[in-house]
Amino acid sequence: MAGRRVALVTGASRGIGAATALRLAREGFDVAVNYVQSEQRAREVAARVEGLGRRALIVRADVADYPQVKAMVARVVDELGGLHVLVNNAGYSSHFEPEALPVDEWRRMLAVTLDAAFYAAKEAIPHMKRAGWGRIVNVSSLRALAGSAKGAHYAAAKAGLIGLTKSLALALGPYGITVNAVAPGYTRTDMTRKALEEQGEQILKQIPVRRVAEPEEVAALIAFLCSDEAGSITGETISLNGGIYMR
Ligand SMILES: NC(=O)c1ccc[n+]([C@@H]2O[C@H](COP(=O)([O-])OP(=O)(O)OC[C@H]3O[C@@H](n4cnc5c(N)ncnc54)[C@H](OP(=O)(O)O)[C@@H]3O)[C@@H](O)[C@H]2O)c1
Repeated sequence: MAGRRVALVTGASRGIGAATALRLAREGFDVAVNYVQSEQRAREVAARVEGLGRRALIVRADVADYPQVKAMVARVVDELGGLHVLVNNAGYSSHFEPEALPVDEWRRMLAVTLDAAFYAAKEAIPHMKRAGWGRIVNVSSLRALAGSAKGAHYAAAKAGLIGLTKSLALALGPYGITVNAVAPGYTRTDMTRKALEEQGEQILKQIPVRRVAEPEEVAALIAFLCSDEAGSITGETISLNGGIYMR
C-alpha cells in the first residue's frame, strides 16, 4: 500500500508490544502506543518511534473497556490520520487451579484478551475498509493450542482469539484486510521473568531449540504479517515456540 500508514499496538509499553511498535516504525509505520499503567515506559517507546523518523502517539486505555477502546481508535484516526494495522497484543497472565479460579478473574481474563480484540477490531475495520487495505494480528499463545493446567482462563481466551481471527479473515478478505494470529511460546518479557528465573533449566529442557524467544523475534513475525508481501496469508495462527508443541 502506498502512502502513509498507521499502526495501533495495544500493550506497547513493554515486552512483545514495545518490540512490535519499534519494528513497525522501522518498517515505515506511524505508531500509536497503547498502555494502561506504564505511562513512562510508553513515552520511552514513543520517543524511540520518533527517533526512527516516524510519528508516535501514546494512548492510555484499558482494552477491556469498550468506551475506552472506541475513544482510543477515534483518537488515533484523528491525530495520525487513519488506521491500517491493528495488533491486539495487550495481555497478562495469572495462575489458578480450575476449581480455585475466581469467576471474576475468569471474566477479567476474557475481557482483557478476547473482548478487547473484538472491540478494537470492530472500531478499526471501518477505517481499514475505507483505506482498502488493512492488517489485524492477534497475539494468541502456545497455551491456546496446548492448554494450561493452571491457566484455563488464559488458554480459553487465547483459543477464542483463533476463532475470532478466522472469522474476521473470512469476512474481511474481500476488502484487502488480512487477519492472523501469532502463538508465541516462552518469550523473554516481564510476563515470564519469574518462571524463567525459578524454573529456567526445566523449561529449556522442554524446548527442542533449547532457547526462549526474544520479543524482537515475535515482533519480526508480526511485522511480516503486516507487510504487503503477506497479503495472501490470512486466517492463520503461526507458532513461534522453539518446537515445544507440534500438531
Ligand atoms: N511472554 C510470553 O512468553 C508470551 C507467550 C505467549 C503469548 N504472550 C502474549 O503476548 C502478549 C504480550 O505479552 P508480554 O509477554 O509482552 O507481556 P508484558 O511484558 O507483561 O506486557 C504486557 C503489556 O500489556 C499491557 N496491558 C495489560 N493489560 C492491559 C489492559 N487491560 N489494557 C491495556 N494494556 C494492557 C501492559 O501495559 P502496562 O505496561 O501499561 O501495564 C503491557 O504493555 C500478551 O497477550 C501475552 O499473553 C506472551
